[in-house]
Amino acid sequence: MSTLDWRAGAGSALIGEIAVPGDKSVSHRAVMFASLADGESQVQGFLEGEDTRATAAIFTRLGVGIDASAPGSRVVRGVGIDGLQACADALDCGNAGTGMRLLAGLLAGQRFDSVLIGDASLSKRPMARVIAPIASMGGLIESEPGGLPPLRIHGGRALRGIEYTLPVASAQVKSAVLLAGLYADGETVIHEPHPTRDYTERMLQAFGWPIAFGAGWARVSGGHRLHPVEVRVPADFSSAAFFLVAASVMPGSDLLLRAVGMNPRRTGLLTVLRAMGADIVETPCGEQGGEPVADLRVRHARLRGIAVPEACVPDMIDEFPVLFAAAALAEGATVVTGAAELRVKESDRIATMANGLRALGARIDETPDGAVIHGGSLHGGDVHAHGDHRIAMALVVAAQRASGEVRVVDCANVATSFPGFDDLARSVGFGLRG
Ligand code: S3P
Repeated sequence: MSTLDWRAGAGSALIGEIAVPGDKSVSHRAVMFASLADGESQVQGFLEGEDTRATAAIFTRLGVGIDASAPGSRVVRGVGIDGLQACADALDCGNAGTGMRLLAGLLAGQRFDSVLIGDASLSKRPMARVIAPIASMGGLIESEPGGLPPLRIHGGRALRGIEYTLPVASAQVKSAVLLAGLYADGETVIHEPHPTRDYTERMLQAFGWPIAFGAGWARVSGGHRLHPVEVRVPADFSSAAFFLVAASVMPGSDLLLRAVGMNPRRTGLLTVLRAMGADIVETPCGEQGGEPVADLRVRHARLRGIAVPEACVPDMIDEFPVLFAAAALAEGATVVTGAAELRVKESDRIATMANGLRALGARIDETPDGAVIHGGSLHGGDVHAHGDHRIAMALVVAAQRASGEVRVVDCANVATSFPGFDDLARSVGFGLRG
């Protein structure tokens, strides 16, 4: 990965109407289930990010025909639930925890062995959380010491269904176990400590696999088939989040974000920003791919610090970097607790955001599972994104209100989830240069 630094600051009011790219979680799953269906599926609105393209490339290497008919479109010639072919080489998930964890569950049910590798960041992320439940289903995944990638997944093993209570609220772990459950004998039942995004469950249902699920639980059994469908991927709420915060903090802003995916397990930031005083008006505009979508109009407002309710944490797990930026520019203190998972994301997001904002003059007290962010003003300086896409974008948002220029180092990984962020941001008034 080449390095890329940005210079950000001196932003103006954000004005205009934009659509952000397709949802990352939905795009990964659309390619996975379409690959396993009996026949040809279409995916529209596919995220052309490095993470999701890595997943599509892996399925190509496992014998699935995938054509990119146009940017954001894929035609996937599914090979059926048992039709994947072995690949002798390691399969590269890039930066994508979602790709690696879901594939671990799926590949544990195949007849053949596989190896999953990732980039430097993914190679430091915990995989024991999927290895352990797959082992109790009878699967075998070997890792490096400490449960780190690469993962060597042994195929040809008879899996059996389990009843499993997740130790952490994680849609990736839930999905890995459900995917292994498609290949298991009997029922697989999952219980979650807090409901997490349910795209795997919704999409299995859309592809015709019998599944029962509700808030915090899901149940599947093996031995069924997936029918090809057309998936329309909604715009990614997590990408919209950078613009929701930026327009909230930039005086004079009035920005419309079109047709954003509004799955309630993703929109915790909206609840929290509104509690902080944000002015965001939501106009529902139907469904895309079975997900509610809405236009979001956001105008500048004075934000006040709050204690973020712990119940909101899983519903905004990817939005904490940009919430930290909002909090650093709000009046009073914002208190985050119950968010220790942030320490094992693409970077340690509590530390990387606290260090970045401190370098711009913010006062932040870190705790093991969160932080107290004291709102105030920011100055210019050099900050490090540590190759974490959401840290880079969150620091660019914070920089818009800094009194001097901010150099954000190591931003190339923004392309993993939000290709074209810089051009889109500039088009509505961000101060940002490459
Ligand atoms: C995701 C689940 C979340 C989230 C990630 C995408 C998914 O991870 O942070 O960006 O698509 O299932 P965890 O399940 O590890 O919390």
